[in-house]
Amino acid sequence: MDVKVIDSFILIQKIKEYQNIKDSLLMLIDKMPDKKTDTEREKITKSDWYIPKEHVREYGELFLKIIKPYNDNIKKFYNAKELFLKNYWYQQYTDTDHHDWHVHASCLLSNVFYIELKNKNSTLFYNNLTKQKYSYNLEEGDLITFPSSMIHKSKKNSKERKTIISYNLDFDNISVNESNR
Ligand SMILES: [Fe+2]
Repeated sequence: MDVKVIDSFILIQKIKEYQNIKDSLLMLIDKMPDKKTDTEREKITKSDWYIPKEHVREYGELFLKIIKPYNDNIKKFYNAKELFLKNYWYQQYTDTDHHDWHVHASCLLSNVFYIELKNKNSTLFYNNLTKQKYSYNLEEGDLITFPSSMIHKSKKNSKERKTIISYNLDFDNISVNESNR
């Protein structure tokens, strides 16, 4: 098989409202039911991934409101006419928590917003061609957007809690301005 390398894109945005919403988001996540995951592939202290969709998510309502202009930037970059939010969830990692290599299915773009990242344990990516692992220099308040087929993981956490909100986006219709050709 001949493999050609193509351009793909990682978008990193600093959420300027971060300092104002951090405590509220953490408090609203605290209010959610305790639900841990402990399997061979993932050990996560608290997440709403397995909590029914019908459960009210106040943290989500706040987060989605704040994130709107940043999603508009993503939409513009991809020339998308409309972005569709597929789903969102939070994850809190404490000591030794981890999430093994995975992709996000049935969507084009995946996003991670870092609420707590004191330990610098940001998402680790895997290059299928070089077999190398790599990560970006991210900090609390950063939002990273990447193609959903990119293999990634959260490596074993340290004692300092890491909290993220992740969400998937889709789009279909695009509008490309060819005037610069
Ligand atoms: Fe993921």
